[in-house]
Amino acid sequence: MKFFVDTAEIDAIAELNDLGMVDGVTTNPSLILKSGRDILEVTKEICDLVDGPVSAEVVATEADDMIAEGRKLAKIASNIAVKVPLTWAGLKTCKTLTDEGQMVNVTLCFSTNQAILAAKAGATFISPFIGRLDDINLDGMDLIADIRQVYDNYGFETEILAASIRTVNHVTDSARIGADVITAPPGVIKKLADHPLTDKGLETFLADWAKTGQKIL
Ligand code: G3P
Repeated sequence: MKFFVDTAEIDAIAELNDLGMVDGVTTNPSLILKSGRDILEVTKEICDLVDGPVSAEVVATEADDMIAEGRKLAKIASNIAVKVPLTWAGLKTCKTLTDEGQMVNVTLCFSTNQAILAAKAGATFISPFIGRLDDINLDGMDLIADIRQVYDNYGFETEILAASIRTVNHVTDSARIGADVITAPPGVIKKLADHPLTDKGLETFLADWAKTGQKIL
């Protein structure tokens, strides 16, 4: 399972990248806003930092403009995945850019039918948004499971990139179902290491170690 970090914060990406936890990065217009950085500059820095795909999202809504924006974003670095919304214009952009050999991440996916369209348009990644479905009292994980089944039924090669991940349970469930990639905020990835029994066990070991009076270094 690949881990992408869902942020445009360089320090947070660098910290996790040093730990070997970053297989890629996803950004979107809201995350660029949050970073306070220029999209071209910060995306270039991220691409220089990580080896894997870095999603950078177009903001035009007409296909011709989306394609032009996608080509410009693609020039930032060879590991750019152009991110397009799941609209007909986005699907046209996906088809055009993937035919040119460009990685494309189709985002804002909320149904299995949308995921089928993205696969047929040649998407490299499909991004179903788990948390936003949970927000409206639907089960985001059901969508991941459904897409997994349908993609496997037909051998679609588009990778399922579970997005809008808000909890550590979303990560576990995505792994159980077999999502190819999860993208999560740095805080969620860091929480994956937490367990109260680990903390309690370590506390006991350290207390006992102090009683031995020994040192390793
Ligand atoms: O990867 C998509 C993600 O950034 C959306 O997350 O929490 O805003 O629904 P969220």
